[in-house]
Amino acid sequence: MNTKTQYYTRTAQFLHWIMAIIFIAAWVIGFYSGNFLSYDTDGSFKGEVITLHKNVAVLIIFLVVVRIFWRYTHPAPDLPATMSPLMQKLAHLGHLMLYLMLLALPISGALFSWSAGHPVPIIYLTEFPRLLQENPEIVAIVRPLHVYLSWFAGLLIAGHVLVALKHHFIDKDHVLKSMIGRDQ
Ligand code: HEM
Ligand code: HEM
Repeated sequence: MNTKTQYYTRTAQFLHWIMAIIFIAAWVIGFYSGNFLSYDTDGSFKGEVITLHKNVAVLIIFLVVVRIFWRYTHPAPDLPATMSPLMQKLAHLGHLMLYLMLLALPISGALFSWSAGHPVPIIYLTEFPRLLQENPEIVAIVRPLHVYLSWFAGLLIAGHVLVALKHHFIDKDHVLKSMIGRDQ
């Protein structure tokens, strides 16, 4: 008999949802600043929005360390047996890519800020030590890297949410519940 729980631990669920909210908020603020505000017409407002983007987004770097440790020590529940081996592999690959985005976006964002000569603040209280000098040649690499990664992450998350909803409403399996419910 398979006695393995069908649910993620409460800690894993908490980390998933809090990070989902922070990640989506950071994404929307960054996208708004990058595509709807300009230094020419919006003056210092754009600077304030970018600062907000950074302060929200850096929380991810602290939480992802805890989350990876927790994931390593607490395995995920099995995917439904109704999923083919190929679909299960794709689901795991999708999760791996999401974890990579949780690491790559704050790291590329921080490299972008430092190399452009700006600080990486921590919740408006302090800032990370500067690990890079101002350097336009590095900006030319990490700026597009951050922007393209953010678009890729946006597509990945849209797919992730649609698949979760499909599992719940069409396949009617326990995948979405595994991230919400718990054993009785
Ligand atoms: C969860 C992490 C993050 C996400 C999801 C994210 C997402 C985004 C998005 C969607 C954009 C707009 C891209 C575009 O122009 O189309 C952006 C821009 C930007 N991000 Fe991030 N980012 C993250 C972390 C960071 C961090 C940690 C920093 C710096 C400390 C940072 C600095 C910037 C800057 C300076 C811009 C340019 C904004 C502008 O040109 O108005 N990002 N980010
Ligand atoms: C807000 C809408 C979201 C919904 C409805 C949702 C739903 C789910 C569900 C049901 C699972 C577990 C089962 C599975 O997919 O096999 C899951 C896992 C996961 N989600 Fe989300 N998610 C959302 C947003 C996000 C965001 C924004 C991120 C991060 C960028 C994210 C990252 C992950 C990761 C990394 C896993 C794998 C967990 C593990 O096995 O350790 N999710 N999500």
